[in-house]
Amino acid sequence: MNILLIGSGGRECAFAWKMSQSPKLDKLYIAPGNAGTGAYGENVALNPNDHVAVCQFIVDKKIDMVVVGPEEPLVKGLQDAIKANAATANIPVVGPSAKGAALEGSKEFAKDFMVRHGIPTAGYLPVTKDNLAEGEAYLEKLSAPYVLKADGLAAGKGVLILDNLAEAKSELREMLSGKFGAASATVVIEEYMSGIECSVFVLTDGKSYKILPEAKDYKRIGEQDTGLNTGGMGAVSPVPFANEEFMKKVEDRIVKPTVAGIQKDNLDYKGFVFLGLMNCGGDPKVIEYNVRMGDPETEVVLPRIDSDLVDLLYAAATGNLASAELKVSKDFCCTVVMVAGGYPGDYKKGDVITGLDKVEGSTVFHAGTKLNAEGKVATNGGRVLAVSSRGANKNEALAKSYANIANIKYDGCYFRRDIGKDLDQY
Ligand code: AMP
Ligand code: GLY
Repeated sequence: MNILLIGSGGRECAFAWKMSQSPKLDKLYIAPGNAGTGAYGENVALNPNDHVAVCQFIVDKKIDMVVVGPEEPLVKGLQDAIKANAATANIPVVGPSAKGAALEGSKEFAKDFMVRHGIPTAGYLPVTKDNLAEGEAYLEKLSAPYVLKADGLAAGKGVLILDNLAEAKSELREMLSGKFGAASATVVIEEYMSGIECSVFVLTDGKSYKILPEAKDYKRIGEQDTGLNTGGMGAVSPVPFANEEFMKKVEDRIVKPTVAGIQKDNLDYKGFVFLGLMNCGGDPKVIEYNVRMGDPETEVVLPRIDSDLVDLLYAAATGNLASAELKVSKDFCCTVVMVAGGYPGDYKKGDVITGLDKVEGSTVFHAGTKLNAEGKVATNGGRVLAVSSRGANKNEALAKSYANIANIKYDGCYFRRDIGKDLDQY
């Protein structure tokens, strides 16, 4: 099977690594990929938002399945474009239509979907300039902290959590006046939920589903969850508080109604549903939907899947997931993300990375890397590498990742030393 994988991050490197282990794979193309994905397939300079070029590539290279890593091409209609082109209409795609991708692309759409299908989530009110007074009155009824969310995609920065009412009101006005551009023309005000977060990943063909291993990620740049939000500084799987009882509630109250809702609403949805969940005293509530796998969560979820990923993805993309097999390892997996100095603010690119050849017992997934003019691996993004390890328990897995990180060097390298530590209490 020839596969086209869209994306360039650590998530896509993990997809490429896992798919390359399948005897079903003939040729893997990654568009655009990074220095790591090149080890598992051929990186190609193909713009995922140039739908004509993608369809032509599918025809020229006899692609049998397209796997879309990030949300943006989906929200922009890549799946729809492939399905609308007579030459590619029958090619299975992992990733929903633009309408399905609105579960991530529009917070208002997602909240409306949850309410209509009885899925537990925080109370909310969508606000535009036209009902600002109603929005302010809603804020007055809530108590601190106040949660304001830009409706549209805002590169992970569109959620503000504010401690006082005056600040919340003034931020609401700023957001509606274009603080996040068109993404915040509508703002969703939400009730604050307190609890501990975890992420559950579901693969669906729009009718049936498989629940993949859950994970917890570490979003803040600083240890003990301090400082600015990042794309994710590390992740662990499994999550100890996501025990059988909790996961049963997740399946019954969230996964089943979500998949049934996708079917009832006639969304063309074959791909991943990433549930951002809050564990509110043992009861799961949805914080958000994403229409893709998480990054860096993928780097701990896929290493725990013992089944053939190509088989699973093909079954989902062709509507045959019910008969597919998912085997999950009991092992623990962790990943520690190495970032560029200064990230998530300004950072340098182009620093040569050494020590990758010394890695033993871990898998290094490349995120922001490229081969420089001399063919050496160099930094090319904020999140540079994700060092993943499996172990019989959390500490064994973490020790392997940290031991290998000690040998990997580049100028300005930073990583958190406390990944997974907060889970010792469970
Ligand atoms: P989102 O982009 O919707 O996942 O929000 C980003 C982060 O903000 C989440 O991972 C939570 O940590 C936090 N958050 C979002 N919504 C709420 C809420 N209603 N209550 C508490 N925390 C929230
Ligand atoms: N790590 C969070 C995300 O992928 O959205």
